[in-house]
Amino acid sequence: MAYKDIYEGWKRDPEGFWMQAAEAIDWDRKPSRALFDDNAPLYEWFADGMVNTCWNAVDRHVEAGRGAQTAIIHDSPVTGIKQKINFSQLRSRVARLAGALRAKGIEKGDRVIIYMPMVPEAVEAMLACGRIGAIHSVVFGGFAASELAVRIDDCRPKAIIAASCGIEPGRVVHYKPLLDAAIDQASHKPDFCVIFQREEEVAHLQEGRDYDWHAFQYGVEPAECVPVRGNHPAYILYTSGTTGAPKGVVRHTGGHLVALNWTMKNIYNVDPGEVFWAASDVGWVVGHSYICYAPLIHGNTTIVFEGKPVGTPDAGTFWRVISEHKVRSFFTAPTAFRAIKREDPKGEYRQKYDLSCLGALYLAGERADPDTIEWAQKILGVPVYDHWWQTETGYTIVGNPAGIEPLPVKIGSPTVAMPGYDVQILDEAGHEMPAGELGAIAVKLPLPPGTLPTLWNAEGRFRKSYLEHFPGYYETGDAGMKDEDGYLWIMARTDDVINVAGHRLSTGAMEEVLASHPDVAECAVIGVSDTLKGQIPVGFVCLTKGVNRAHDEIVRECAALVRDRIGPVAAFKLALVVDRLPKTRSGKILRATMVKIADGEDFKMPATIDDPAILDEIRDALKTVGYAGA
Ligand code: COA
Ligand code: AMP
Repeated sequence: MAYKDIYEGWKRDPEGFWMQAAEAIDWDRKPSRALFDDNAPLYEWFADGMVNTCWNAVDRHVEAGRGAQTAIIHDSPVTGIKQKINFSQLRSRVARLAGALRAKGIEKGDRVIIYMPMVPEAVEAMLACGRIGAIHSVVFGGFAASELAVRIDDCRPKAIIAASCGIEPGRVVHYKPLLDAAIDQASHKPDFCVIFQREEEVAHLQEGRDYDWHAFQYGVEPAECVPVRGNHPAYILYTSGTTGAPKGVVRHTGGHLVALNWTMKNIYNVDPGEVFWAASDVGWVVGHSYICYAPLIHGNTTIVFEGKPVGTPDAGTFWRVISEHKVRSFFTAPTAFRAIKREDPKGEYRQKYDLSCLGALYLAGERADPDTIEWAQKILGVPVYDHWWQTETGYTIVGNPAGIEPLPVKIGSPTVAMPGYDVQILDEAGHEMPAGELGAIAVKLPLPPGTLPTLWNAEGRFRKSYLEHFPGYYETGDAGMKDEDGYLWIMARTDDVINVAGHRLSTGAMEEVLASHPDVAECAVIGVSDTLKGQIPVGFVCLTKGVNRAHDEIVRECAALVRDRIGPVAAFKLALVVDRLPKTRSGKILRATMVKIADGEDFKMPATIDDPAILDEIRDALKTVGYAGA
């Protein structure tokens, strides 16, 4: 069947489409129907079914006789470890960990924070939570203690599972002190912590609160899978929004299983047994969906890669992993390819490896620039598919349905809407716009299974952030257009979210940190174009009257403050001291205009600007650090 027929089939009978997809999942009790819309515009899918995620990701493959198939490959160039875990072993390991959590009082619905680097134990911890119906919230290791504390206070975990350390090229990231500091800062205290001690650093355990990963599991009775309702939260994943308070995206169990399983063949074109690799981190949505859940649910081998595209040890690492483990479909962020291209523009490392196993490359997480796509096509010799999605949706909104029918690639477009998504371009008043015109990208409600039903403990914020601006639609926060063939073109965010090396960050959160510096009276943070990371944050600070300290000292303190409060992942290195910020007459800072100036682009002078001369001051300040066309 052609993509068009499948998409039209979904449109005619969305519930029938998803009920059929649900057949591929093992239910303890089948759902009576697909969509539950009694509470519209809040929707749920498969709400009255009973199901278990871990059963579907692990046990059922063992029961089907595939226990000896490799489930997880841990390939860690930063430690030299290579390890394979088959589905039988994975079941024993996860059941034991789940049993130990249960023995310490973790029950269905309890929250468990997971703060771990790219080790298989991170995936096992996620699955162990699912096994007993606990709701996990994984926190990315590049965040600072205070970000972890905010998440602890928001989801109120009964337990935290962490590793003693993570390993970044050239430095050990001391997770345990970060964890201790976060617990100190948070008002909510977990009952206990489980610490996976790594050889690179053995952490001090706090008597009575912290348990060693192995000792904790010793002699416990393994836990069986606990069926939960289809609308039971499988996890909460925090993501950046406009303000400093992260949004807790909730994922319901039933829809998550059905939708992710569907994507593996239809989008990523892999069959059970083949090796799938997403080079991301379990702390991001790509890691949740495509390192942990989707490949395992679908019966694929997944790779937990602990390294970087370059420097661990060289720009050939990705090709080595693909070749050595026979990767069929490979998923990463464009920034990783830009990093490789910068080090090895001719692709010489690639020539050392046999990549005949590879079927296609998938890029997401940020805009895929044409140069990067073309370079990847040239050196890999396989189709390169851009696809667009978000933490909120958990999987592709717009992509190339390669497993149904590969559609012609138009470089710069992530291709077409997937079944489940009726994607529209709207004007400010919410009218659908014709092909070729730029507007806000919105998805007609209901969103499909597996997408966010709400935000954790924040239904009002959910409605306000996503549903109220365009009634009847989900507002994606991206702007773009659709062409006459129905291909989508994603242009920019409509809010204060920026994308740094594929990491989603809030400039609003960084402004809150800068504003807390005693010498800063006012500030703005914008994302400027960067050839490696896509965007990087640049701060502008106006100093409090009477402050006459050296500017470079204040700037250094500002950078250190952001690193300390948000984390190294913010990559906030550059701040400029300016006298004034450009504003509208009503006092709104003209950030979008500042971005255009920084990137050396043409812009229209905002009609409501208070004092146009300030733009020249901003341009001059940016030129001193190599931006604004300098
Ligand atoms: N734990 C602790 N610190 C981390 C971290 C983690 N898991 N991940 C990143 N950091 C730190 C880095 O060490 C770096 O610290 P530094 O300022 O001391 O150098 C900082 O956060 C910024 O990291 P990053 O933005 O990743 O930049 P980089 O220069 O280290 O690497 C790339 C650049 C392009 C190689 C890297 O970003 C990359 O591999 N990106 C792949 C994209 C990706 O995985 N995206 C996820 C969504 S799909
Ligand atoms: P995240 O929630 O971290 O996955 O970030 C989602 C945001 O990243 C989207 O709203 C887009 O702004 C951006 N993004 C993700 N994938 C793409 C893509 N393929 N093209 C352009 N932007 C993308």
